[in-house]
Amino acid sequence: MTDTIIDRLFALNGKTALVTGGASGIGRMIAAALAGAGARVLIASRKGEACEAAAAEINAEGLPGRVEGFSGDVASEAGIAALGSAVDERTDRLDILVNNAGVSWGAPLEEFPYQAWDRVLSVNVTGLFALTQQLLPLIEASATADNPGRILNLGSVMGAVPMAERVYSYAASKAAVHHLTRALAKELAPRHITVNAFAPGPFQSKMTAFATASETQAEAVGRRVPLGRIGAPDDIAGATLFLCGRGGAYITGAVLPIDGGISVETGPELFGEG
Ligand SMILES: NC(=O)c1ccc[n+]([C@@H]2O[C@H](COP(=O)([O-])OP(=O)(O)OC[C@H]3O[C@@H](n4cnc5c(N)ncnc54)[C@H](OP(=O)(O)O)[C@@H]3O)[C@@H](O)[C@H]2O)c1
Repeated sequence: MTDTIIDRLFALNGKTALVTGGASGIGRMIAAALAGAGARVLIASRKGEACEAAAAEINAEGLPGRVEGFSGDVASEAGIAALGSAVDERTDRLDILVNNAGVSWGAPLEEFPYQAWDRVLSVNVTGLFALTQQLLPLIEASATADNPGRILNLGSVMGAVPMAERVYSYAASKAAVHHLTRALAKELAPRHITVNAFAPGPFQSKMTAFATASETQAEAVGRRVPLGRIGAPDDIAGATLFLCGRGGAYITGAVLPIDGGISVETGPELFGEG
């Protein structure tokens, strides 16, 4: 039987992925999408039991791939070394690394605490860089010119446009993720590894629960998005398969807006009527 174009471009059978922070929010959406396309997906975060539970729930959906959850902390050098070893124990090649783990901190400008910089940057930037560094040999082991290894980083619309909304270190960390994505894309292209980032707008997650947990809240946020709603799991799934499947093999250094048009909004028309 011949493969359909969908299978050829997006199927991930035989591929192994790691998604940090894969038990909740966007990471879980990514993990489910990868497993839905046939990949073996490792998910890790500080709460190993939550990762095991999320893996069991996704596996219960009967997808073609499998998810395995365990603990891993990207906030320290020792944690990253331990996570690297945990991945090494499970696989000798990694086709897809999704640096999704992230934290935020919100406070008014004058009260924004000094430690909110180290706390946020250590996970969102240092952790992302150091884990990538640690796992490069495993990614290189699977990478070919024809089907490169994939690194997908989680940026944010807040790293793309001047929007900080009391999360100053978070917004700066995401701008750093976008820059690092492009710099690593340049360096790793000759080693047959693509590096891209998502720059999402608002999605339901633990991080955004304060503003999106209920449907009423989610609709209120959605009304401020040009496309009129917050993001949904399929918005993340489509972008994930696009960049991680064979169809995305020639794309590197992209920071993909998945933001319902927020990043192209410039306010009212200057020469509009009224
Ligand atoms: N939701 C949005 O609207 C939105 C928009 C733009 C970008 N993003 C980005 O998307 C990514 C996922 O966030 P989310 O919104 O889905 O929030 P979330 O549900 O809070 O997910 C963040 C994940 O990161 C994990 N994590 C936090 N610190 C960690 C550490 N030190 N080591 C390992 N894992 C850690 C958390 O698990 P544990 O608590 O178990 O460690 C959690 O599963 C983040 O990078 C975020 O900045 C989100």
